[in-house]
Parts: sequence; C-alpha cells; structure tokens
Amino acid sequence: MVQETGSGVAIERLAAVIGECRKCPLWENTHHAVPGEGDAGADLMLIGEAPGKQEDLTGRPFVGRAGKLLDGLLSGIGLVRGDIFIANIVKHRPPGNRDPRDEEIRACTPYLEEQIRIVEPKVIVMLGRHSSRYILSFLPVEFDRITEIRGTVYPAVLFGHPVRLIPTLHPAAALYNPAYREALEEDFRVIGRELAGAGGSAIRD
Ligand code: URA
Repeated sequence: MVQETGSGVAIERLAAVIGECRKCPLWENTHHAVPGEGDAGADLMLIGEAPGKQEDLTGRPFVGRAGKLLDGLLSGIGLVRGDIFIANIVKHRPPGNRDPRDEEIRACTPYLEEQIRIVEPKVIVMLGRHSSRYILSFLPVEFDRITEIRGTVYPAVLFGHPVRLIPTLHPAAALYNPAYREALEEDFRVIGRELAGAGGSAIRD
C-alpha cells in the first residue's frame, strides 16, 4: 500500500533503508527484513520483539499464530490492522527465533525510534519484555518480570511528544496459556480506554 501523506512517504523511505540494512549480521540468514507496517499517522503503535519464520518469509510483522491472536485482541477493542502501526525491536529474524542480542538491539533501534518520530502515536503498547525493557528505559522504569508491570499506563514524553506507554505480554506467550490470554484481554481493554481518552478510534465502554 502506497501512503501519500508526508509521514506515509517517510515511513516507506525508511522501510527501503531497513531492507538494505547490514549494521549487524542478522540479515545474513534471512529472506526479508520486516520493517513494520500500518497507518503512518496511527494513534496506536504496537512494538513486538523480532520477526519469526512466517514474518521472515513474507516481510510482514505478526502474520503467524501470535499475529492471529493479536488480530482477535485488536478486534475486541474495535480496531483492525489498518488502524494502527506495528513494528518490532529488531527488523531481521534472529536464527532459530533466539532472543535478540544487546548489540543487535543497539544497531536496530534507531530505526524504531525514527518510526516513533514519524508516526507520533498517542499510545505505544510494548508486546513482551524486550520491547517493554527498551521503551521503558527512556523513563527510566526497571522491572524483573513483565507480569509485574503489565497493563500499567506510563505517561511519558518521547522524542518531544506526549505518549502513553503500556507494557503487556507477548501474544506468543498466550498461545497455550489461558491465564496469559485473559491478562492480555484485560490489558487490551486498558488500551481501548486510553485510546478513547486520547480521542482515538477504539470502542468506548
Ligand atoms: N513476534 C514478534 O515479536 N514480532 C513479529 O513480527 C512476529 C512474532
């Protein structure tokens, strides 16, 4: 999809740069970079961890099983993919889906920061501990377990813009764990309320 707004053009130019990125060795074992996608003027940005197998094959974020679960959570608050922007902490798949390394995160996160500057979301949701740790380090907020802080709303100013930061569980963690799934549903209700408060398009309750 070609986006003709200024921010849409900027996001697509950045995606082209990410597609050629060789700043760390992750690209060597991949089929595609997964820069992220969605509405470049979205109120809501979701940040995952790293592409998995399906994402690497397609170049699109969250298209595997965790992505299907995510679609259900979004639809529960009246949103579809096209309403939001989805990105990851690292843009190439780590081999065997291992955790991204500190040096890979350091090399890749300037792209994420640029995406946040372009989209200027009102609400950023961090899916899982890697993205939560990275984004909350700007406040700074530290934590041991994501379950301690999930669903908390942290008001912040990121790159000169006010934003509400909400950490939650990674949807992959909820695939086989009904308690985590309930926790995610609860956190998405918080997200819906925050978006409604920010004048966003989610269902109000
Ligand atoms: N998990 C992630 O963190 N990101 C994706 O894009 C897919 C699965």
